Amino acid sequence: MKRVFSGVQPTGNIHLGNYLGALRQFVELQEDHECIYCIVDEHAITVPQDPKELKQHILDVAALYLAVGVDPRKSIVFVQSQVSGHAELGWILNCASNTGELYRMTQFKSKSQGKESVGTGLLTYPVLMAADILLYDTDIVPVGNDQKQHIELTRDLAIRVNHFYGKDTFVVPEGRFMKEGARIMALDDPTSKMSKSATNVHSRISLLDDNNKIKKSIMKATTDSDGVVRFDVENKPGISNLLTIYSVLSGTPIADLEKQYEGQGYGNFKKDLVEVTVEALTPIRDRFNEIRQSPELIEVLKDGAERADAIAQVTMKRVRNAFGLGL
Ligand code: TYM
Repeated sequence: MKRVFSGVQPTGNIHLGNYLGALRQFVELQEDHECIYCIVDEHAITVPQDPKELKQHILDVAALYLAVGVDPRKSIVFVQSQVSGHAELGWILNCASNTGELYRMTQFKSKSQGKESVGTGLLTYPVLMAADILLYDTDIVPVGNDQKQHIELTRDLAIRVNHFYGKDTFVVPEGRFMKEGARIMALDDPTSKMSKSATNVHSRISLLDDNNKIKKSIMKATTDSDGVVRFDVENKPGISNLLTIYSVLSGTPIADLEKQYEGQGYGNFKKDLVEVTVEALTPIRDRFNEIRQSPELIEVLKDGAERADAIAQVTMKRVRNAFGLGL
């Protein structure tokens, strides 16, 4: 069985983009892959966090994993900081990376733009992500499009280390991206991606939003003035983004939706999209509320960390050996 690894940062506001680009894949893959899903808390501290809030957000993401359908009997679910191999391999890979390739990362460029100095973690973050993936001899990494460059770096590092230290040091992984939903755009500005940190709450639909908030955000979503429901990312990015969301959540092909709403303007389309979204998110929200309160959640994470650590230790032994570290 091929091995799958992926992670989500516990920084609050997990949204429809995270779900459609990544979490949806987690559930699909667990049927016929060995899946490891991580809450990457060490990534979250690349920017300052309130420690109390971070702890809550870790449990929120864990509960959301389970609420969307990740099954802890099929998949390993754990918190990154509970397995020390991530930080250790992160260091080793730092020494195999060079600053040039890290300065070239678009996420670093946008986060550091105009600033004289930023936290070192923001620069070396993709190396920790590579460590997360390589630590488990991962074959497949299900993610959204915004992680493509980080996966490429992971592959480069694995190939480089294998070249210098032996071809069996790391498995070279591949990214897995959805055909539809790999890049969900912000509702208020369809030229930038939906994000957890945008200040306008109506730019995103969080998975835990109540029905009123969902309705408001969709009805306010930026479209265009020609009133035709047609998929055309270049000229009609707003309605194209909404069509993608509608299509994926309802399982209706985009071409069928275009026909269905021909000559009707955007009003009916948006009203129906509210309904489709509420229908998709209500069961997730209900399950989340149940799981988040349950003492079993901690048990799932403890058990997951033990199982993940057992795999990680085997890799670390091999890697230390390959690099000549230790006795
Ligand atoms: P994060 O926490 O920002 O996002 C979690 C997942 O959601 C995807 N995503 C999106 N997909 C579609 N449309 C969007 N607007 C959108 N926004 C986010 C992301 O691509 C991601 O798959 N660096 C990662 C976390 C990470 C990781 C890893 C992932 C750390 N180590 C190892 C995979 C493997 C991140 O910040 O994701």
